[in-house]
Amino acid sequence: MKKEKDNLIKEYEKKIKLLKKYNKQYYEKDSPSVPDSEYDKIKERLIFLENEHNFLKKKKDSVQNIIGSPPSKKFKKIKHRKAMLSLSNAFGKEDMNDFLKKIKNFLKSYDSTIDIFSEPKIDGISASLIYENGLLKTGLSRGDGETGEDILNNLKTINQIPKKIDAKQIPEILEIRGEVYIGKNDFENIKENFANPRNAAGGSLRQKFSEETAKIPLQFFAHGFGVVVPMIFKTQSEFLKKINQWGFSTNPHSKLVKNLNEIEDHHKKIESLRASLDYDIDGLVYKVNDVELQSRLGNTSSSPRWAIAYKFSSEKATTKIKDIAIQVGRTGAITPVAKVKPVTVGGVVVSNATLHNEDEIKRKDIRIGDTVVIQRAGDVIPQVVTVDKSKRVINSKKYLFPEKCLCGYKTHKEVNIFTKKEDAVRRCSRGYDCDYIAKEKLKHIVSKEAFNIDGLGKKVIEQLWDLKLIKFPSDIFNLDYNKILKLEGWGNLSIQNLKDAVKKASSISLDKFIYSVGIRHIGQENAKIIGNFFVSIDKFSNLFNSSKREKLLNNLNELDGIGNTQINSINTFFTNQKNIEVIKDLVDVLQIKNFKIKNKKGKLSSKSLMFTGGFEKMSRSEAKSLAEENGGKVLGNISKKLNILVVGNVKPTKKKIEKAKELKIKIFTEKEWYDFLNI
Ligand code: IVH
Repeated sequence: MKKEKDNLIKEYEKKIKLLKKYNKQYYEKDSPSVPDSEYDKIKERLIFLENEHNFLKKKKDSVQNIIGSPPSKKFKKIKHRKAMLSLSNAFGKEDMNDFLKKIKNFLKSYDSTIDIFSEPKIDGISASLIYENGLLKTGLSRGDGETGEDILNNLKTINQIPKKIDAKQIPEILEIRGEVYIGKNDFENIKENFANPRNAAGGSLRQKFSEETAKIPLQFFAHGFGVVVPMIFKTQSEFLKKINQWGFSTNPHSKLVKNLNEIEDHHKKIESLRASLDYDIDGLVYKVNDVELQSRLGNTSSSPRWAIAYKFSSEKATTKIKDIAIQVGRTGAITPVAKVKPVTVGGVVVSNATLHNEDEIKRKDIRIGDTVVIQRAGDVIPQVVTVDKSKRVINSKKYLFPEKCLCGYKTHKEVNIFTKKEDAVRRCSRGYDCDYIAKEKLKHIVSKEAFNIDGLGKKVIEQLWDLKLIKFPSDIFNLDYNKILKLEGWGNLSIQNLKDAVKKASSISLDKFIYSVGIRHIGQENAKIIGNFFVSIDKFSNLFNSSKREKLLNNLNELDGIGNTQINSINTFFTNQKNIEVIKDLVDVLQIKNFKIKNKKGKLSSKSLMFTGGFEKMSRSEAKSLAEENGGKVLGNISKKLNILVVGNVKPTKKKIEKAKELKIKIFTEKEWYDFLNI
């Protein structure tokens, strides 16, 4: 009898430990080590054991008390009414000076002072709250910035989020954006369950049952607005003051600053407070205070021009290089990685640090066995910054960078055909023929920004690759589920989830498809520009044909944002027959939706424009951004496709005007341009 009890306790304790381990992994990594079904099985068994045997329930680690279970992937997706962008970063005074200069250039406002509002950058999880006539109706996560997840019920468990705003004159629609976080003190009490406060906050917000979220002491700082109708705020500082009166908590360490010196002083002051604050901050956000100027400045593709995150200086530590390994990226880039003696940098244990590329190792003469300073800033991969040569052992040898890729084939350095300079990065150019590149390409394809296949994280890709179940992208859409079912850790439920996710992913828009195939220098923004140009996969497929390709690439060159670097890269990509085969195979198993031209409604919708000369009242950048705001497309070259040439008063190019006249293109003077836009 006693033996039986002992065995039960043993099993119970082992499973509790396992559950905790899996929990932690869920919060630490995108791809957990076990499928959901395996996790559920253990949890069910634990609950069963507790219900059957009272003596187990009394243990302090009872399964009912374990905080944090795997985040759910099944939230309703809702499109943000206004995209949730990210911020560009500044790392020093120079960068901040550039930021201020750019703003002044854009606004052509060289003499006046522009008020800047500074706020701590909270290291939490962003959320959007939409109030309709004062009632909290929608609560979303950031998601990919365009579409968020409906986490309203979980957000409602946070005390600092008002469910109702009791005030007069609140806008009919008020979207408040802010940061959900866990206080450092609170985290101390639950830390054994999570990797760090940010992961804990993120995971807690994505619980299936809000009762689970409620167990975690989440807090909220409001820091911005999305859609506001009617717009009643004139400045960021006024906005924060108002919403604070309405019951939102706003950060007390905010301040209006007027120039670079004030920015520096304030920055140092808050940095010195950093450790004493009850929440993590990784820098300060500086925002143009005036809301109208903010809207004139607008956004680049990914971040507002009117704000920047000025990061605190990064955290450093000294350690020793045990070995140098190389990694192969999806574009073939060979990155050296220093395997270092584990060391804590800013609270995180680091055992790998990037050495960037061959040239960097040569320049700094970094060797195995060296004592080095490594640094870690925010989410950026830790890097080796300096070598302490005084600590070098006498017989140490210069590091010889391998000339071969992990696949065994020779690597090379590209020479830029324009500058004739050799690239700092060594590459393997075998594309899919190199197993290491091919595997990385697969990881890219399933990633969030590409096909976004839930359940196919990096680890699973590794597993399926090792078992030779996948090699090329189209294999993802022809998986042998029976074989996967037989693998350890997979069950019927997780297989069904995977099937659903793959099925969902097999319908994709052209621009995402272009991004997914992984052409070097073609990121999400460029993929959109190219998608917009080709519209359909049929037209895009003309790139496969070398004679058509040349002409198409010439046309692509005319698109604003696409330059020689991109054109060359596309050409190189399609010169490789294997790439074409891979794309054709993918096209066969997918439904690729035409690029939907987000025809911004406006005076210039479906019109293409070009500017020549400078403008007296606005910068070229503002003119361009205004054209786009009004639905127009800005081109970089004159061709028959151009609809309007706008000629600024300051030194326009005569040749362009003549050519436009020849092609009978409509010409606007600077004044006509302002009149046209009513400005
Ligand atoms: S303003 C880009 N203010 O930082 C939109 N963001 O990298 C303007 N964050 O996802 C954001 N504290 O969630 C702003 N005081 C603050 C912030 C803050 C933290 C987050 C935000 C955003 C990320 C940008």
